Amino acid sequence: MNKNKMWGGRFGASPSEIMQEINASIDTDRRFAAQDIDGSRAHARMLGETGIISREDAAKILDGLNTIASELDDGSFPYRVEFEDIHLNVEARLTELIGAAAGRLHTGRSRNDQVATDFRLWVRDAIDRVLTGLAALQTALVDQAENHAETIMPGFTHLQTAQPVTFGHHCLAYVEMFERDMGRFSDARRRLNESPLGAAALAGTSFPIDRDMTAKTLGFDAPMRNSLDAVSDRDFALETANAATICAAHLSRLAEEIVVWCSAQFAFVQLPDDLTTGSSIMPQKRNPDAAELIRAKTGRVNGAAIALLTMMKGLPLAYSKDMQEDKQPVFDAVDSLELSLTAMTAMITALTVHKDNMAVAAAQGFSTATDLADWLVRVLKMPFRDAHHTTGTLVALAEKKGIALDALTLQDMQSVEKRITEDVYSVLSVENSVKSRVSAGGTAPERVREMVSFWQNRLK
Ligand code: ARG
Repeated sequence: MNKNKMWGGRFGASPSEIMQEINASIDTDRRFAAQDIDGSRAHARMLGETGIISREDAAKILDGLNTIASELDDGSFPYRVEFEDIHLNVEARLTELIGAAAGRLHTGRSRNDQVATDFRLWVRDAIDRVLTGLAALQTALVDQAENHAETIMPGFTHLQTAQPVTFGHHCLAYVEMFERDMGRFSDARRRLNESPLGAAALAGTSFPIDRDMTAKTLGFDAPMRNSLDAVSDRDFALETANAATICAAHLSRLAEEIVVWCSAQFAFVQLPDDLTTGSSIMPQKRNPDAAELIRAKTGRVNGAAIALLTMMKGLPLAYSKDMQEDKQPVFDAVDSLELSLTAMTAMITALTVHKDNMAVAAAQGFSTATDLADWLVRVLKMPFRDAHHTTGTLVALAEKKGIALDALTLQDMQSVEKRITEDVYSVLSVENSVKSRVSAGGTAPERVREMVSFWQNRLK
């Protein structure tokens, strides 16, 4: 009988095949092997320095952990499913490498505080990578905004032509959204950055451990205050997954716009060949697959957040094995988000803007009707509601004649409102329309250029 080496003492039989299969997490948690080694190094050093174990044993353990770290690096580390998870795999390997001293590493520690520590460290690294990815995407968008501060496109509400805007202004809208995403990830990171290590199984330990020391070594701001909380909550992962859902939604909206803009009907932008795919049957096709996949990955990210939340709800304190299922969704959400950020940055960087098509579209759909109404208010002192009504009548007239607003003759205009003068035509061009939107946060090229330099300074 091959009893479990880690806890076989009170067992009469080894786990059945199905028990092993449902229990093992090594295929998933091997992803934070590096963090597991870091946690063990900090713990071993602390055990040595506090005299809980001898300095010689601590040194042996640290040596062994170094060997394991290089085995992880060069791919020679033997991951074995019979050792269940990354923690037991590392300990088993350490025993093979250094013998009996390995058995002292787990003094004053449990896999419960160990896994909470590893996962926090992993999520912290993931947040840092996501923040870097978001900043790169912001930079790409700001670069486009700088090039297109004056490029006019139709602005939409309800995907109906609303008012002309500048493409630069549109790009900067996403820069703002991604900034708030960064705020959410940074917030999560701040709350996450406390050390569970030393909570042991759930109650703390009778050994004179130094939790401040291990927290500091691992770059945490402080030890967590409550041992039960430390081993049993996963809100740091939930916050991160939820920040990811909002970020993925932002990416998905931008992806959707790219898909629409690339269509022959819009033809506002073009992606380069190396960022599109062809069709196996239709030779003319250039499909924006990357944008479509970014749009789709939102579903996986949302699913991860819901999976995690559902898994946690109803768990009594402290640790339950349910919590082993916390990693896969978080890994998948982070992978999806990182890939999406990189692909989106590549597309934004390489996007060619068809200014002419945008300009033609911007002038369609009576996009300067609001400018006309505003002129009636400003020059003729009409109440806005009346001006809205008068403009509506003029739009209906132009529509009946099949012409644009600025193609109506002055006589046409005066047939609706006799006080209208030649001056009205000055506000009917899309150029003058965007130029006039100078209010703070508006689309006027001068405001866009100010915002471009604001962001350039901030992203430096
Ligand atoms: N593999 C486990 C997990 O990921 C580690 C903690 C196991 N703790 C326990 N009491 N069985 O959750």
